[in-house]
Amino acid sequence: MTMDFFGAVPRRCVNLPPGSLKTLLNCATRGLVEDGPDIQAFYKEFGNWIGFPHVFGASSGRTAFQLALEALDLDKGAEIIFPAFTFPVMPMVAKMLGFEPVFCNVDPDTFNAGAEHIAAKVTDKTGAILATHLFGQPCPIREVAALAKERNIRLIEDCAHACGVRVGGQQVGTFGDIGVFSFAEGKNMPCFGGGVIVTANDDIARRAEGVLAQTSPPPRGETLKKAFKIWVEGLLTRPAIFGLTVYPLLRLKGWLGQPLMDSVVGDDLLAAFAQSAPRVSRLSNLQAAIGRRQITRIDAFNEGARRNAAVLTEHIGDVPGIQVSQSAEGNHIYVYYPLKIAAKRRDDLRRFLLAHRIDSKNTDMDDCATLKSFRHPDHPQADGRRPTAAAILEICVYPIIPQNEMRRIARVIRDWAGLSPS
Ligand SMILES: Cc1ncc(COP(=O)(O)O)c(C=O)c1O
Repeated sequence: MTMDFFGAVPRRCVNLPPGSLKTLLNCATRGLVEDGPDIQAFYKEFGNWIGFPHVFGASSGRTAFQLALEALDLDKGAEIIFPAFTFPVMPMVAKMLGFEPVFCNVDPDTFNAGAEHIAAKVTDKTGAILATHLFGQPCPIREVAALAKERNIRLIEDCAHACGVRVGGQQVGTFGDIGVFSFAEGKNMPCFGGGVIVTANDDIARRAEGVLAQTSPPPRGETLKKAFKIWVEGLLTRPAIFGLTVYPLLRLKGWLGQPLMDSVVGDDLLAAFAQSAPRVSRLSNLQAAIGRRQITRIDAFNEGARRNAAVLTEHIGDVPGIQVSQSAEGNHIYVYYPLKIAAKRRDDLRRFLLAHRIDSKNTDMDDCATLKSFRHPDHPQADGRRPTAAAILEICVYPIIPQNEMRRIARVIRDWAGLSPS
């Protein structure tokens, strides 16, 4: 298969299941948007697939994390350990709930925190660890779980980038007390937004149920509006349509020297988040209905992304100045494919790629220990080894992009670096 002439590679594709507009319209016309039988059915199917008995839905990954923290019943003001390099909204959720985010260093090659990084930050006030599997690469979760058990600390896993990742055959999200998942449009299992927590602990499940019982159902109009917006986004990020619509606009913006439709990041993202006064609300029946379709296709999807990532890794692994993220145990699912590159060269590569019909994305992840919103003298100082947002460029490797197109992306990157094709 070749990408047609007008096609272009988008920075992210929205992986909606076929027929999702039909599901949307069905739910809308049959009064099944907010509530309905798909919610419990989805919980059951997701739980069976993941391997944990209790599943509870929320309106996003971040509110699922809020639900997790509320269900854990931690001491007021407890410290929660986060990897310093992560999505900054997560430690902000903890801070807004009155907990103390504490940041640990991460491995500069995998972007993830291991047990040795986390152990250095454990104190007698540590209430929980958020183990994050960044970009789709699992962190050394068995060692982290052993540490949490030994020190009697609660363990939550942030699986927003890692839905469907197994370690030793076991799904991530099931190594600790609670797994948190996101079904936002930019993740591998979008359900018109939403998120879930999973747990095997009956007490946690009872408390989560209690928290959700006090929330109101998601508003119908807002749910439908969001779903339709994400469906349109899905359409616009199909490579053939993207090439004819958003891509020319991006080129024009690039030509005019304007920003390339980048998301708000860092302290600005946190300021906007603080304004939104987040509170837990439930997963809608519409999102659950999409989720049920996604479960049957997510493993094949992840396999396709892995195959595309392998093409890129094979052909650009030797490019000087660019570090690709290798999967230690072959279980990386590359929800995003991060290229590590000197910050001063990143924008140049991004412009070069764009000129060759390849869009790419500045990362939304950040070195949270250096953000103003979390400033604290005890946070680990940036040591020059910890990843920084400015030195990462994300490439989309979703299977909607054919393999020959992945080889073309690799050729363009080699060309930029002055190397011949591999
Ligand atoms: C690592 C990580 N965790 C959690 C989240 C939160 O998910 P949501 O956007 O659904 O709230 C994100 C979102 O980008 C993320 O990247």
